[in-house]
Amino acid sequence: MSGITYSEKIPNNVDLANDRTLQRALEHWQPHFLQWWHEMGPSDFEAAHVYLRTAISVDAQGWAHYGAVHMPEYRWGIFLADPVAERKVGFGDAMGAPAWQQVPGEYRSTLRRLIVTQGDTEPASVEQQRLLGHSCPSLYDLRNLFQVNVEEGRHLWAMVYLLHAHFGRDGREEAEELLARHSGDADKPRILTTFNEPISDWLSFYCFTYFTDRDGKYQLKSLAESAFDPLSRTCRFMLTEEAHHMFVGETGIGRVVKRTLEVMKETGSENPARIRAAGAVDLPLLQKYLNFWCSSSLDLFGSEISSNSAANFASGLKGRPDESQYDDHVLREKTLDLVMPEGTQNVPMLNVLNEVMRESYLKDCEIGLKRWNRAIERAGVDFRLTLPSSRFRRSIGAWAGLPVDPRGNLVDKTAFEKQLFDWIPSESDRAFVHSLMHKVTEPGKMAAWIAPPERGINNLAVDYEYVKLH
Ligand SMILES: [Fe+2]
Ligand SMILES: [Fe+2]
Repeated sequence: MSGITYSEKIPNNVDLANDRTLQRALEHWQPHFLQWWHEMGPSDFEAAHVYLRTAISVDAQGWAHYGAVHMPEYRWGIFLADPVAERKVGFGDAMGAPAWQQVPGEYRSTLRRLIVTQGDTEPASVEQQRLLGHSCPSLYDLRNLFQVNVEEGRHLWAMVYLLHAHFGRDGREEAEELLARHSGDADKPRILTTFNEPISDWLSFYCFTYFTDRDGKYQLKSLAESAFDPLSRTCRFMLTEEAHHMFVGETGIGRVVKRTLEVMKETGSENPARIRAAGAVDLPLLQKYLNFWCSSSLDLFGSEISSNSAANFASGLKGRPDESQYDDHVLREKTLDLVMPEGTQNVPMLNVLNEVMRESYLKDCEIGLKRWNRAIERAGVDFRLTLPSSRFRRSIGAWAGLPVDPRGNLVDKTAFEKQLFDWIPSESDRAFVHSLMHKVTEPGKMAAWIAPPERGINNLAVDYEYVKLH
């Protein structure tokens, strides 16, 4: 089952050849996808040979093949994790019943909405990043950007497969719409705000892959628990690919920190202005980028109190990430004390699942910070990077629009407005970061604001020519 057929137009492990109607529908969508990639994918790199990995199996071990390809010829396909024999619904009111192989009629529109919302983020991020190749800090980074891009394209395929296979005509229409909305478009924007923010510099790219792809990981983990088995299997394999995206973010920020510490040592100064003059990213500036992208990504989990997420859980559509780590999977009896602007409220646990997910996400975000802070500490520098409070700069939920500082304290509105650009990047901060962005394409060379990676891709040297531009 885990073998993938590459001899067909659409690589797959779902036996597409035996469902002619579905195969024809997807083969009809395929050129639309390729046209979208051509217009909205990485600009100007269609002729480059890129050292990319492609899935050849869905086993966690040895699942990928590496080789140089032209991106438009990447073999995007449909790969589901192997089925779990006699899988049961693992949470909610139907706990213990057999998992669903078909969509139950009463959940059809909710499930479609969940799939479309997830699917929309995948091409959105490709669009957000489409110009980054022109300012890559190295060929190694350029390759990583393109790897992330082609895999987000594949994640779109994953969701489109579900729409085509299980939602009939509505599903096919949604699949077309996924190519018609565009990130930042005034008339037809992407569904979620974070996916309409431009990513025009590499510091933002590393923050995005660290924070926003990690939101993706949490969404996929909760959908991997779904009673709708095809969705679960699709998301489980997407998670295998997703890990690399967060690796790019974590090591990218780590390399920025490393380089900054070197510059601090070389100049004998911790003064941000001197660090900037020496062409590196000062730590307070990095902190502002972390604050911006973390707070923006926190909104993706939705309101603290949500009857939708309660209903999705109770009906078995969407669980908690790593559902098996909890002891109660029905949650009809539990409550949680939630800190709200008006004071602490005791809320039924079913209604605060967004918050539960947001909290476990933040814990996962801490891992990288610990690593970066260790490097800072070892260098003898008296500065620690932190995560902003989940109440800071929220646009959704109980804290939306309230003047809360990054530590989570409600402050005076005027003070908040005056200080905001001490907390998130100002226009001039962004202009400075942009001024650092120069394309470096000599194999093994790095831009001056970032340290080289510790090792190359797939055991190759750091100075391997990961992208052959001509
Ligand atoms: Fe993705
Ligand atoms: Fe991703």
